Amino acid sequence: MTGQRLLPGLVVGRVRGLPMSRELILRTERLVATSWLACDVDDLLAVHSDAETMRFVRQGRPETREETAALVDQYMAEHAATGFTKWRVIDLDDHLVGRAGFGTQLDGRELGYTIRRDLWGHGLATEIGAALVGWHLAHAADVPLYAYVAVDNPASRRVLDKIGFEFVRREDHCGVPCELLANGLTP
Ligand SMILES: CC(C)(COP(=O)(O)OP(=O)(O)OC[C@H]1O[C@@H](n2cnc3c(N)ncnc32)[C@H](O)[C@@H]1OP(=O)(O)O)[C@@H](O)C(=O)NCCC(=O)NCCS
Repeated sequence: MTGQRLLPGLVVGRVRGLPMSRELILRTERLVATSWLACDVDDLLAVHSDAETMRFVRQGRPETREETAALVDQYMAEHAATGFTKWRVIDLDDHLVGRAGFGTQLDGRELGYTIRRDLWGHGLATEIGAALVGWHLAHAADVPLYAYVAVDNPASRRVLDKIGFEFVRREDHCGVPCELLANGLTP
């Protein structure tokens, strides 16, 4: 396929013979989701090394550069193998805003998102979350879409409310008291 350049280093679709190119997943008014490259580690580390940001994410603690590098590798491998992962989310000036996308969960997929802390409170998680629900409905509408949210994370619970998730049950997830929610538009 021939790539179409949209932002520096960004092309649409998988481009044979250009392994250093990014894949565009979706765009919103303020955000762009793309696949990852190995050179993105330090950008993601700026998000994943912050204790408050990581409180309800992964192991619940800030992560090292080695852990972040391994995660970027994992995201690249997942995307290549399945066509989805937690993608890189940037603003229209190509600055990292966070990461958001899907993992595998129960009989379906799980929505997840993390936004850089200095950008909280501007509707960005809601914007990318709503776009990802749309992406899921366009690509896998017959697959249930879930989300886990810690009972102590009201901001994320509110985001999930706003983008159409409904309470299923309370359960511990990775040892943390959580609510399991499902998107009302999926089975
Ligand atoms: C949770 C998170 C993604 C929210 O991102 P964000 O871009 O600030 O979210 P938005 O601005 O789109 O929406 C946040 C909503 O929560 C509300 N909110 C924020 N803090 C709140 C609180 N303590 N109690 C209740 N509601 C709260 C906001 O008012 C807003 O709702 P509104 O639009 O009705 O006013 C962000 O805080 C984050 O990245 N946290 C760390 C990672 C994380 O917890 N990820 C989710 C794992 S399930």
